[in-house]
Amino acid sequence: MKITIFGSGYVGLVTGTCLADVGHDVVCMDVDAAKIEGLKQGEIPIYEPGLEGMLLRNVEAGRLSFTTDAREAVEHGVLQFIAVGTPPDEDGSADLKYVLSVATTIGEHMNDYKVIIDKSTVPVGTADRVKARVKDVLKDRGASVDFDVCSNPEFLKEGAALDDFTRGARIVVGTDSEAVRERMRECYAPYNRNHEKLMFMDVRAAELTKYAANAMLATKISFMNEISNLAERLGADIEEVRRGIGSDPRIGYHFIYPGCGYGGSCFPKDVQALARTASQIGYEAELLTAVESVNKRQKVTLFDKLSRAFDGDLKGKTIAVWGLAFKPNTDDMRDAPSRTLMEALWAAGATVQAYDPEAMKECRRIYGERDELVLVADRQQAVKGADALVICTEWKEFRTLDGEWLKSQLGFPVVVDGRNLFEPAAMKAAGLMYYAVGRGDTL
Ligand code: UGA
Repeated sequence: MKITIFGSGYVGLVTGTCLADVGHDVVCMDVDAAKIEGLKQGEIPIYEPGLEGMLLRNVEAGRLSFTTDAREAVEHGVLQFIAVGTPPDEDGSADLKYVLSVATTIGEHMNDYKVIIDKSTVPVGTADRVKARVKDVLKDRGASVDFDVCSNPEFLKEGAALDDFTRGARIVVGTDSEAVRERMRECYAPYNRNHEKLMFMDVRAAELTKYAANAMLATKISFMNEISNLAERLGADIEEVRRGIGSDPRIGYHFIYPGCGYGGSCFPKDVQALARTASQIGYEAELLTAVESVNKRQKVTLFDKLSRAFDGDLKGKTIAVWGLAFKPNTDDMRDAPSRTLMEALWAAGATVQAYDPEAMKECRRIYGERDELVLVADRQQAVKGADALVICTEWKEFRTLDGEWLKSQLGFPVVVDGRNLFEPAAMKAAGLMYYAVGRGDTL
């Protein structure tokens, strides 16, 4: 099938590349000329395991190409995916200016039937707005061309996006049109062989499904973080509690890991946007607001624990940080707990000596060159001469630790572990003061 993808960011590139890989003829369009030029030279603007190889292979095979030419892009595909960004507005609601500008572009150039697909995470009612915009533009042109708008939210996790796309649990399509159902079935047929994954539903239900899924997952995390704070104060070990409740199949083991708060480009933004949608229609989403505030508080706990270990005086101290990305297998630092920590440390007069396997370039881009941020080549160098260690991301390479060696490196034997990677007893036996999340020791 001929497919056009608007937006060559994370979602657009993964979607375009995966669809090309199963034989579709895909054109990716972006208004950012430098990005498109780079992609034409084989430069991938994001880090996602497996993406580069798959993308280059499909470009080579002639199934995937990139353009800034709107006319060419609109003419190409019968399916027109909108996968541009929806950054939060000042009030937390999703800003639709990019989505609607793609709708305008499509309206300006289309001359035959198109299925316009909202792939970006957009508030309930957006498909109607896209439809109205395209209609207006067609009317201005005096053109009469048939089209449909449907919702097809993505459920990609950064770091596992290719797998999620090709082996996802479900493919949600919101539409009331048989013509759309037929074309979407054809588009996704290669991924829909073993069992029926396509779920057709009403447009608004599909739009809400996306937010509800992310809000549910964020709720699980905030719930566990709340219980871990109780566990800490009550002298219980949250890891035992986690196993205790996870074994109930109604609860399950997924997404109940306590930590230093959720980050990334999705959960914080989507929970906020859904709460905002609620208040716009006069409904106070109390649970969503609580999920968000528990998360904000959780991000501060790393600094609080460290600060208490140093009696509130971190001035002049050097703190080693392992992990900057909001989670492993990505270089993404959007809303990462490491940022809350580092910014608090700098405000307290401390220096950060950090290492991350992928996110150091991104960290430099965000914070620039500054004396209080030293980026080093590995985790050993990060702790050398440091006064204490904080673990922010559970990268695989951090999962083993020689406690005695670590103690010999640190000025003070303080370790704050935001990801519960180690057994407190073993850390204590090595002479470390080990503060994890919800594991009895409150400080
Ligand atoms: C999330 C969803 O998992 C995807 O299904 C969804 O498609 C995506 O948002 C999106 O809307 O685009 P992502 O943000 O990439 O994906 O990352 P997750 O793996 O879900 O992790 C989110 C955050 O939750 C991370 O900061 C992680 O450390 C934290 N987390 C996760 C916990 O603190 N505890 C857990 O048990 C699980």
